[in-house]
Amino acid sequence: MDAVTEIKRRIDPAEYIGRSVKLQKAGRNFRALCPFHTEKTPSFYLFTDRGTWRCFGSCGEGGDVFAFVQKRENVDFREALRLLADEAGVELSARAAEQRTRSERLSGIVSAAVDFYEQQLASEDGADARSYLAETRGLNQETISSFRLGWAPDEWRLLRDYLLSRGYSDDDALAAGVLHESDSGGAPYDRFRGRIIIPIADDRGAYVGLGGRILGNGEPKYLNSPQTEIFDKGRTLYGLDVAAPKARESQTVVVVEGYLDVIGPWQAGFRNLVATMGTSLTERHAAKLTRFASRVVLAMDPDSAGMAAAERAGSLLLNFDSPESMGAAQRSAEEITSNVDLDLRVAPLPAEKDPDDLARESPDAWANAVENAAPFARFLVERLIASSNIDSPLEASRIVDRLRPVLLAVRNPVERSGHIQSIARRLGIAERSIADRLRSDNRSPQGQREADVAPVRAPVEEALLATLLQNPILRADLRHLPVDLFPDALAREILQRWIHDELDTSSDQEEDPVAIRLEQLRSRREPQLSAAEARERASDLIRHIVRERLIQRQSAVTEELAEAERTLGAARVQEVAHRAWLGALPSEETLELAQITIEELELGLSIHRQERDAS
Ligand code: UTP
Ligand code: MN
Repeated sequence: MDAVTEIKRRIDPAEYIGRSVKLQKAGRNFRALCPFHTEKTPSFYLFTDRGTWRCFGSCGEGGDVFAFVQKRENVDFREALRLLADEAGVELSARAAEQRTRSERLSGIVSAAVDFYEQQLASEDGADARSYLAETRGLNQETISSFRLGWAPDEWRLLRDYLLSRGYSDDDALAAGVLHESDSGGAPYDRFRGRIIIPIADDRGAYVGLGGRILGNGEPKYLNSPQTEIFDKGRTLYGLDVAAPKARESQTVVVVEGYLDVIGPWQAGFRNLVATMGTSLTERHAAKLTRFASRVVLAMDPDSAGMAAAERAGSLLLNFDSPESMGAAQRSAEEITSNVDLDLRVAPLPAEKDPDDLARESPDAWANAVENAAPFARFLVERLIASSNIDSPLEASRIVDRLRPVLLAVRNPVERSGHIQSIARRLGIAERSIADRLRSDNRSPQGQREADVAPVRAPVEEALLATLLQNPILRADLRHLPVDLFPDALAREILQRWIHDELDTSSDQEEDPVAIRLEQLRSRREPQLSAAEARERASDLIRHIVRERLIQRQSAVTEELAEAERTLGAARVQEVAHRAWLGALPSEETLELAQITIEELELGLSIHRQERDAS
């Protein structure tokens, strides 16, 4: 059996998807608020019989559990396969198996070190460390145990001896990062000496590294495990294993900088915090975070380094390379908004207060800072304006360029226009010139769709679907028809199933929207057609849809927008843009593919005719 089949056999989509999406029973299926866009009424369906899902709301996405992982975690199929194989305990290859056992062994060593240092903290030798944690840091026993804090006595080979006695080799202990190679060719020695130990786990709770804080003052303040096969600092977020349940439940995760900024607030009851461990947030961190929560709040130190880190991190989370390259990058709105469902915010903290201090001294102030954190766009607008000499017009346009992708990433037209207004006011320039610059790459904001708006059901599309349903013989010709040619998610789902010949009506339940729609389509009275007639009719209908949508696309995005702006003002522009975003606009590729399909159909038809004429 191949890995994909085996994974599908082992993973229950309802259970798996249900971990991150709150599923409600709907007959034999489930429905939920779509995790991929914001909506108030549930339009995400999970079809238990088929093990597939689709959003019938504005995003129209759908697929199997692999597609879910790809979309949710923003990864390609191979990575999704890897993640799900891991989840299902399916080996992808012999090499993967070997690696896993090695990672498990290295992680086992870090875990043994955690045990050892925890014991040391509880022992007589740990008295100073205990009093540092209790008195200086104000941590209680529950917190210390929960984070499994430890103490590495100031000795050279205590841990090494312990590990050897437990059967671990020096080589493995070095590879796990807990020992240090001796310069003089002697035996390896303990990396951590005279330090409080902070165990670092990956998001599944497997130990991958250690952080060590000096007692009191001294340099360096923190010493950490080096980068190892199992510890990738660009991927690991401290505290994620602990924060995951709360982050999922509240759909909010707060990113701080330090270990103690996770631990202190945890004790104060704030349990959805993770730390980047002093490094800057990477793309891989970002991908990880968005798996757990839709809202990410960056709570950085209020100093300039902290704010710069927030700017960098935010740009990354919204898929910009760097703030510097944002303006230069002539990216389409579609690309920029690929991560648009992330609600990214920045919570600047009061000066001289890190999250550890604030959350414990003034829990209300902390809760408030997180609750009312500014959307990233507003943060960046304020920051850029505050740090610029806005008297020069050149400077003003430079600022607008830098803000452009950020503004394009704001999907809510009202919110966006609010930003534009405030920028215009702050920079003393006309709103219109900002709007002009935003559109300067002349591409449609296709990636943006407003939530909760049911697309209008188009008669031509209905007719096409009905024709397809009645003439399965067309399947061979139309298997390349792009599903997103239809603006309506239900129509997409039906087309998808039709293409794959998966229209079994085993689920004729009242609550299945697909079954209901199929019923309606099948009850239409369609003429009986020969194969050639059906082909001709389908091709006509597809051509019609393509033409309509091309017209729609061109007019809505270019002329209408420009015209509305000239004559009717910003409010009207919003309205028009809003309509254009309803998902009515197919992509360039879709239209092209549809046209190729029509050509193929017509070629088939003409061959058929020639054959018939010849005979
Ligand atoms: P901070 O110096 O802000 O740490 O560095 P903190 O957590 O507030 O430390 P306390 O409260 O003084 O104990 C933030 C993070 O940067 C990393 C650590 O991960 C730390 O938690 N760091 C800092 C290092 O790795 N090495 C250092 O020398 C300092
Ligand atoms: Mn601190």
